[in-house]
Amino acid sequence: MNNLIVSPSILAADFSNIVAEVTSIKTANAEWVHLDVMDGNFVPNITFGPKFIKDLRKHSDLYFDAHLMIENPENFIEQFAKAGCDGICFHFEATKHVHRALQMVKANKKDVGISINPATSVDLLLPILSELDQVLVMSVNPGFGGQTFIDYSLNKIKQLHALKVKHGYTYKINCDGGAGLSNIIQLRQAGIDVVVTGSAFFGAQDKKAFIKEMCDKGNL
Ligand code: DX5
Ligand code: ZN
Repeated sequence: MNNLIVSPSILAADFSNIVAEVTSIKTANAEWVHLDVMDGNFVPNITFGPKFIKDLRKHSDLYFDAHLMIENPENFIEQFAKAGCDGICFHFEATKHVHRALQMVKANKKDVGISINPATSVDLLLPILSELDQVLVMSVNPGFGGQTFIDYSLNKIKQLHALKVKHGYTYKINCDGGAGLSNIIQLRQAGIDVVVTGSAFFGAQDKKAFIKEMCDKGNL
């Protein structure tokens, strides 16, 4: 199994001090930055758009992973690609044309991910799994940080992992929401490659020690 990738979500950061907050992700030895984009329509919250990411790009060389919680993501994929995202993940539930959106991400030469809400079945992704670089399993309802992990998400992760092994797929399995030191071992045993962590990372007294502990536990 590959080394665990920890992806702190800046949703839990202080936006008024965002450059220092993103720098703290690198200093803590995490490898990815998780960028939660919300439109107030697909989810009941609003965050930031491509201009914010473009400006942030100048201050970090980490892997920028955009999680688009926006309706009709195909209207904005090019802008997020140009802003300097490395991975672009959109929601299966947010577009009538999932495959078209997927092709747009690929045409922009970015890693493509699809996210599924807690009530969305993995089975719906079966026709397109071979084309994905990431599958993002929402383990809370999208929109807010600091929510409680939904336990049945583990079954979805296990199913995605079994499919990956069976068919030789190459997608990374990401888990987003309510993840931290208390459940990282279970998540890893279920088969995740990437763990998103918002409140647990930015709430940690010692961010470097937090990342080390997550990786130590997750790479057993
Ligand atoms: C929720 C976001 C998550 C969120 C996770 O809509 O997609 O990325 O920031 O936050 P925690 O780790 O606090 O559950
Ligand atoms: Zn997210």
